[in-house]
Amino acid sequence: MDRLDELRKQAVHGGGPEKIEKRRSEGKLTARERLEFLLDKDSFNELGMFVTHTCHDFGMEKKKFLGDGVVTGYGTVHGRLVYVISEDFTVLGGSLSGMFAEKIAHVQSLALKNGAPMINIKDSGGARIQEGIDSLAGYGKVFLGNVRASGVIPQISVIMGPCAGGAVYSPALTDFVFMVEGKSYMFLTGPDVIKAVTHEEVTFEELGGAGAHNTKSGVAHFKCDSEEQALAMVRELLTYLPQNNAEDPPLVRGKKDGIRARLASLVKQVKGSDRGRKLEQVLPPDHTLPYDMKKIIEGILDEDSFFEVHAHFAPNLVVGLGRLEGMTIGVVANQPAHLAGVLDTLSSAKGARFVRFCDSFNIPILVLEDAPGFLPGVSQEHTGVIKEGAKLLYAFCEATVPRITVVIRKAYGGAYIAMNSKQIGADLNFAWPNAQIAVMGADGAVKILYRRRLASASEPDRERKKLVEEYNEKFNNPYVAANRGYIDEVIKPSETRDRLVAAFASLRTKLEKKIDRKHGNMPL
Ligand code: HXC
Repeated sequence: MDRLDELRKQAVHGGGPEKIEKRRSEGKLTARERLEFLLDKDSFNELGMFVTHTCHDFGMEKKKFLGDGVVTGYGTVHGRLVYVISEDFTVLGGSLSGMFAEKIAHVQSLALKNGAPMINIKDSGGARIQEGIDSLAGYGKVFLGNVRASGVIPQISVIMGPCAGGAVYSPALTDFVFMVEGKSYMFLTGPDVIKAVTHEEVTFEELGGAGAHNTKSGVAHFKCDSEEQALAMVRELLTYLPQNNAEDPPLVRGKKDGIRARLASLVKQVKGSDRGRKLEQVLPPDHTLPYDMKKIIEGILDEDSFFEVHAHFAPNLVVGLGRLEGMTIGVVANQPAHLAGVLDTLSSAKGARFVRFCDSFNIPILVLEDAPGFLPGVSQEHTGVIKEGAKLLYAFCEATVPRITVVIRKAYGGAYIAMNSKQIGADLNFAWPNAQIAVMGADGAVKILYRRRLASASEPDRERKKLVEEYNEKFNNPYVAANRGYIDEVIKPSETRDRLVAAFASLRTKLEKKIDRKHGNMPL
């Protein structure tokens, strides 16, 4: 074997066979196996295989491993270029050294220059303690790389094992974070430190497992059952995204052609009208009852094309990517099946982040609205519903991609304005015939407007009913808003998909000038 073959063999062994065996016994893939699952077959080109650390302290001379704990390079996913980083826990716990950071910074810069997505597979104990300041400086460089690439190329983080200390901020600066249940955890300070400082006892899983970060903190966007599933989902996510902010997302249509294509399109027409009929039946007859907004989303989008983001966090707002006639769109929809679809602190921040992602990457936005307003409450006020709601307003106001809203049922108060109304820059607003667009619901409005009249009425209940009816007659329909031109068209549920296909097609050439400023001051 020549020297190069020997060195390559050594490098792929990472921290050595024993360490690899230990990871396997824990049911984990190696850093290189993860890349094999992620990338198209035989497409990986490695960079920096022979990099080693430069530390001389703490006996580190004897602990030199080729590659220094991180595998970097480029390859393809569905034939499209991506840059990759895969941390190797078998080498010094995947801890980040100065040279490790240099390798990451190099591929970050290549990804940015070549306009291709950056995918970072994380499995790391954080800053390499033996390197001290060199390691901290390395993190600074990596964070700068993440921020420079933000909004230019999609950045995706996949947490496969520990992601501790300084390791957490790179994923937090990227667009999407995937976690694996029972296998991955993220924390800034671990259970030992927390116990020493606050006397709280907590496990790794409770503190920063996939459940905690998907449901409570919102740090993670996807909760996966296995490493393989996480990597397959990354591949799928990429099919919705452009390579960079100068491109449009790819058009993904059925692959059939010729007679089969025509047959498929006939079947689709039949199925399409079937789906239209189904849409007519989603809303319950009583407008106070909940229903599942995802049925409406699925009824509108191309079949099986909805890729939900942040599914476990603030479920009263649904966000995700989907396709309309093969074109990627971002969907933001109130979910009446959770908290009546109300807007609150968490859902506002969730929506704002997603809207900004779509706007960065030329992804048109569809809003499906059914919200009784912002959630009232002392805790909401004290946890910043004003500030968080302002984030959602801000994100919509500054978005220049094509933006369409369909008012499905309720559009009350602040929710009417914040959920992509024409007044904050939406291009087109539609409403279903049963839409209710008003400052508030009839019961609340009548109580406030007619308090004295009701108090002195001989039959207050009858009087209240009459006033509620009058109010509903006036406001609980989309026609007052349509009279003013706030709603462009009242459309039937069964017509919705076709109307949206035409509307988004009409906006494909939309051009909106950016305001000349360094950047706005978003209420963070
Ligand atoms: C150097 C490290 C290391 C680190 C782990 N190792 N973390 N070496 N620097 N940060 C080494 C271990 O010494 C061990 O080496 C090997 O990796 C495997 O670690 P184990 O502890 O045996 O693995 P496990 O039991 O699975 O525990 C994983 C772990 C734990 C939970 C991640 O290693 C851990 O708590 N590490 C420290 C985490 C941490 O506090 N990091 C923050 C650093 S400060 P041997 O040779 O024995 O196999 C930081 C700066 C913050 O990051 C900056 C904020 C912006």
